[in-house]
Amino acid sequence: MDCVGNTTIREERLLFHPSLLAVPNSYSLCKGCNKLIKKNCRLNGEKKKLGCSRVLFLTATTTTTGGKNQLSPVAPIQTKALNENRVHKKIVILGSTGSIGTQTLEIVDTCPENFQVVGLACGGSQLDIFVSQIHKYRPKIVAISDSRKIQMLRDMLQDLDYDCQIGVGERGLVDCASFPESDLVVTGIVGCAGLIPTVAAIKAGKDICLANKETLIAGGPVIAPLVEKHRVHILPADSEHSAIFQCLQGVPGGALSKLILTASGGAFRDTPLEQLPYVTLKDALKHPNWNMGAKITIDSATLMNKGLEVIEAHFLFGTAYDNIQVVVHPQSIIHSMIELCDTSVIAQMGWPDMRLPLLYAMSWPCRLPLPFPSLDLVKVGTLSFKEPDRNKYPCLDLAYGAGKRGGTMPAVLNAANEEAVYRFRNEEISYLEISKVIEYVMDRHENGLFIEQPSLEDILDADQWARKTAREFSPQLPFVMKHSTKAAGK
Ligand SMILES: NC(=O)c1ccc[n+]([C@@H]2O[C@H](COP(=O)([O-])OP(=O)(O)OC[C@H]3O[C@@H](n4cnc5c(N)ncnc54)[C@H](OP(=O)(O)O)[C@@H]3O)[C@@H](O)[C@H]2O)c1
Repeated sequence: MDCVGNTTIREERLLFHPSLLAVPNSYSLCKGCNKLIKKNCRLNGEKKKLGCSRVLFLTATTTTTGGKNQLSPVAPIQTKALNENRVHKKIVILGSTGSIGTQTLEIVDTCPENFQVVGLACGGSQLDIFVSQIHKYRPKIVAISDSRKIQMLRDMLQDLDYDCQIGVGERGLVDCASFPESDLVVTGIVGCAGLIPTVAAIKAGKDICLANKETLIAGGPVIAPLVEKHRVHILPADSEHSAIFQCLQGVPGGALSKLILTASGGAFRDTPLEQLPYVTLKDALKHPNWNMGAKITIDSATLMNKGLEVIEAHFLFGTAYDNIQVVVHPQSIIHSMIELCDTSVIAQMGWPDMRLPLLYAMSWPCRLPLPFPSLDLVKVGTLSFKEPDRNKYPCLDLAYGAGKRGGTMPAVLNAANEEAVYRFRNEEISYLEISKVIEYVMDRHENGLFIEQPSLEDILDADQWARKTAREFSPQLPFVMKHSTKAAGK
């Protein structure tokens, strides 16, 4: 091995390893020679890669540096930590023109040696953006779902100077998702439209960087056995699930006792319950911490977003609903936590920025450097937590109830919520009627339509039925809140 450790490292003889940039204020230890290397080093002002194949990172607890220091870890620290040279993934992005899609492409721009875009797909409503992405990333396969736009897309791609397979509709999306050359499929499609291509990707043996919520919330009963059968990895991209996923690395099987999902509390976390009948759409769209789309911002206000994440967490980590806790954490610095059997709690922290969890899902099991500012906990100052008020957030208990019921119920909950939020955004219903629409639809579904072990088709049918039923809901209908705090057992 061409090991840098064969020479004495002195502070003035500066060395550089790009990965060191990711670990500010730290030292690394060359596994080849066991010598300490200080971060941010340069050789004669030029970047020089170390020859070491494995580098172990330790948080600096000592001020000593230089060649004479031989630092041996006494703790069995994981060494499979950071080597960006190992990450070379060919990726397909489903929903490339959306928020998740464009943030994924920002990561590709930041780490071009690590990721190559081989496939892009979207709905087709923003062809200008899609075409410029195709020109820039030169994917080998692209698809749109809207067949009315395909001729326009072909016309816009006439001057493309390389071979690119262009697909349309469900077939096109499925071909893109299962493209043989890809390693990883990022699922940034919104809604149940993401389900069929995700199933195709899993069947084709692709790892999934999972953003699309419906995949597990609605499709969980079908997806979970498929993942096991095809032995693929589902890598969570949502910040809360990514936090739990990161905390779980290295935790032995059977040691997990509880997941603790943090919630910002949304737009109305400081609004008294008595004022909720009077809140407006504009009020609901003011998220205190995250800048997101309208639908997800309203879901944060109702805490349905957290309820849906509870269902996702159940499928992702196999945790029973009674062992998934939600706490309101207004600062959104801790993205979630796990509690272990010895009562030790592990938390993952970071600025609220979706690119971080996306990058981890894309680069797992490695860690890649990102040129972001460090999290300054002194600046953050206070981290606080409180129990969610179940009267203020009835959607949370509806989600627990649907998750525990299982089968088609989570798909119904999710679809009814989408439709209710849509109606609220159209100002057809009030803010408090969002949860009433959902409960109305769930009650109707329970009455002879519920399927305990649904097929993919059953789930898609339940989704459509729930949307239609939610549109029929009239705010004047007599209504009883059955899914109360007590009913959900919380
Ligand atoms: N944004 C976030 O921070 C975030 C965080 C966690 C999880 N998620 C989840 O990730 C998913 C995507 O969220 P997003 O915020 O990125 O949504 P978005 O900004 O609305 O983007 C949705 C993408 O899906 C495409 N699309 C829509 N309908 C389609 C269809 N029938 N077939 C194929 N493509 C279709 C859209 O294409 P066109 O618009 O070009 O037609 C667009 O590219 C959602 O399930 C969301 O809950 C999002």
